[in-house]
Order: sequence, then structure tokens, then C-alpha cells
Amino acid sequence: MTTTLAFDVYGTLIDTHGVVTALQRLIGDRAQAFSQNWRDKQLEYSFRRGLMQNYQTFAVCTSQALDFTCAYYKTPITDDQKSELLGLYRTLPAFDDVNEALPILQSAGHRLFAFSNGSAEAVEMLLRTAGIRDFFSGVVSCDELKSFKPNPGVYSHFLRAANATGETAWLISGNPFDVIGAISAGMRGAWVQRSKESIFDPWGIEPTLTVNRLTELPNKLEK
Ligand code: LAC
Repeated sequence: MTTTLAFDVYGTLIDTHGVVTALQRLIGDRAQAFSQNWRDKQLEYSFRRGLMQNYQTFAVCTSQALDFTCAYYKTPITDDQKSELLGLYRTLPAFDDVNEALPILQSAGHRLFAFSNGSAEAVEMLLRTAGIRDFFSGVVSCDELKSFKPNPGVYSHFLRAANATGETAWLISGNPFDVIGAISAGMRGAWVQRSKESIFDPWGIEPTLTVNRLTELPNKLEK
């Protein structure tokens, strides 16, 4: 069956921890923890801005979360260091299973979209830098609605933009909150559990299917 696949971007196609090497120069062996705190704070800011209906772009959430994380680690950062880190964030690498999985899914006849909190311009840049833009029929951004995942409105916006229905449209995401949001809004949801340590939120809403790598997706979608 031909399906529409909405790929989450940060944390699913693109590795947000691709900044760790640069962070090591700033903060040494605490770089991995810093990167995780930065990412968690970025998402928290998007959730809060969504609830408060006080929209700023995801790039602003990322930048303000970096300021917070530097303060938390008592690590002053110069304007140049901040520009360098935010520049790297705009050109983060893809996960290593992405380049193998996307052409197989495309050849199987699925319609592939990137669907993100990030602005269309930021997502286009990431996909082009990673050399994977051509696999996608389009980019749909929550910025078009001035809101963030998991507002149910952004999943409806995706379905309208992709001319799809919830029964045949899948959200593919490494972020459990995103999978739960999509399923609650009537889509199918595949969780990419790249690490055994990742925990799915115990809300009583299970992923429609779970994979450890994107390369498992083609076979599982056939079943
Ligand atoms: C995104 C967030 C969830 O790409 O990371 O939409």
C-alpha cells in the first residue's frame, strides 16, 4: 500500500548530538551531558511557547536553550563561540542509517516528507547539507502554523499540506512525545528506538510499530 511518511527531522533524520565534538572544546568531557541538556531545554521551550501561545521560531528556542545551558554549566560563551555552535546546528549530520533507508522507501512507492518544528528554510538547509533532500516530496514545518509539536493542529496541518489522511499517513520519529502526538491526532506512529536506553512514555498509547534503525522500516511497513 502506498503510504505517506512524515519524517521528524531533529533526532530522527538528523543527529542533534553532532555538536558534541565542538562542545568538547568548550566544556571538555561534559560535552555529551551538555548536548543532552541543551536539547531537552530546547524542546521544553518549544512546549512552553506552544502552551503560552507566545511563538518564536525553533531557532530562537535553540539559541535561548544554549544560553540557559551555558548558565547552568557556569560556562561563559563568547559571541563568536555561540555563532559557531548555532552555525553547526544548521548543518548537523544525518544518522548513519538514513542514506540507506530513504532510497528503499522511495522505490517502494511511499511518499516521503520532512515534518519538523524547524522552519522550512532551516530544514531545507539540513537536508541539502546531508545530501538527502531529493528523497522528499516536500518539507512541512510547524512554523507555518506558528506552533509546535505536539499541538494536534500541527499534525492536521501536515495531513492537509501532504494531501493525506491519518489512516495512511505515518509519523516516523525518534521522539516519543512526537509519536504520541501523531497517534493522538489520528495518524500512525513509528518510533525509532535507536538506543536500548530510550524509554517510551508510559501513557497507555503505544507506537503503531517500533524499529531500532530506519533500515528496518521498509519490511515492517509491508506487513
Ligand atoms: C522536530 C523536533 C521534534 O524536528 O525535533 O520537529
